[in-house]
Amino acid sequence: MSLTLQRTALDVIGDDLTVDLPDGTTVPFAHLDYAATAPCVRAAADAAQNLLPWYGSVHRGTGIRSQTSTLEYERARDLVGDFVGTRPGDTVIFTRNTTDALNLLARSLPEGITTIVFDGEHHANLLPWRRPLRLPTPATPEAAVAALRQALRSLHGPALLAITGASNVTGEIWPVRALADEAHAYGARVVVDAAQLAPHCPVDLDDLGADYVALSGHKLYAPFGAGVLAGRADWLDAAEPYLSGGGASVEVGTAAEDVRWAQGAARHEAGTPNLLGAVALGAVCAALKGADRGALHSHEQDLLARLREGLAGVPAVVPVSVFGDRQPRVGIVSLALPTQDPAVIAERLGREHGIGVRAGQFCAHPLTRRLTGSARTGGCGTGAVPGLLRASFGLGTTGNEVDRLVEALRRLTSRAG
Ligand code: ALA
Repeated sequence: MSLTLQRTALDVIGDDLTVDLPDGTTVPFAHLDYAATAPCVRAAADAAQNLLPWYGSVHRGTGIRSQTSTLEYERARDLVGDFVGTRPGDTVIFTRNTTDALNLLARSLPEGITTIVFDGEHHANLLPWRRPLRLPTPATPEAAVAALRQALRSLHGPALLAITGASNVTGEIWPVRALADEAHAYGARVVVDAAQLAPHCPVDLDDLGADYVALSGHKLYAPFGAGVLAGRADWLDAAEPYLSGGGASVEVGTAAEDVRWAQGAARHEAGTPNLLGAVALGAVCAALKGADRGALHSHEQDLLARLREGLAGVPAVVPVSVFGDRQPRVGIVSLALPTQDPAVIAERLGREHGIGVRAGQFCAHPLTRRLTGSARTGGCGTGAVPGLLRASFGLGTTGNEVDRLVEALRRLTSRAG
């Protein structure tokens, strides 16, 4: 009797990949680097594949290809909007990724807005803001709320809090709702960098207390290069277009300044958009929204517990955290290796054990430096300086892969390794 496995929309493409090791054996590749780029799921691949015969210009043609492509692009916008719970007055703008989305918002801020950030943010949420008020990353969620309150009290004028949903370094979930409530009490707005939260937990604008949310397709199982900024339309409609060009302009006269710009998402989406990226992202959003996210979350939490328990038996690695062990977190664990170079161990995990992780500073230099206790700086993700070693996972990850990582780390960090 043959066993037929049912294909589901959230099956991971490439989970049967194998790699040859130097000892002559072949092992299944264990991809444990989801926080950088998650694998593609079937919903995304099918959506892109199914659209290809119809692929054409978006918002620009009368033929059946163009009409279908336009329809699918706007349907993808609706699916993403549903996924993040857009409200009346909100807009969904397709971008390249979270970095692009946060840069778009940063360029769209009205004059006089002060952005408040904690210094443990990913560079995508640290660097785009003009003259932000940077708060030191505190040791507890309560201290974060208190620090924000103090900052808001001392500010005169409108503010935007830019906060991560879950850290790309430690996986810790930030107290977004409490921070957002505090921000709103002082009339400030809130943008949530949900790049790492969205693949693991629902990201509803109202539940988070967010005015804006930004996320990336490549971390949400939808490659093809799309990201999203969703949230309140007013600032975005009043801002200069992020990109100037066709699609963003309604009417262009002969004088250089004689341009009437579009309102709505089109204002910031000049040029032919990334149709396949948007459609793949919309399809994954729909698949995740229809999935039992509670069950997915439980599975990830089981893997996380298994990993942390296993690592507790590997003396040469030290899991790092901002808020401590008890803080809720997503499937991301970073390790300090006090006596070894994480880049070397990461390279050996890949070459000798068929396990893909990431080492370095994860585009979050201030936080990573603090966590490693190092004062040195280095290239983003180059492993040029000792940073941390990070394992991250999600859909399709198995307990066996987690066990293999623990065992490989035990061997590589032991004297004989
Ligand atoms: N932000 C991605 C990471 O943390 C690239 O690896």
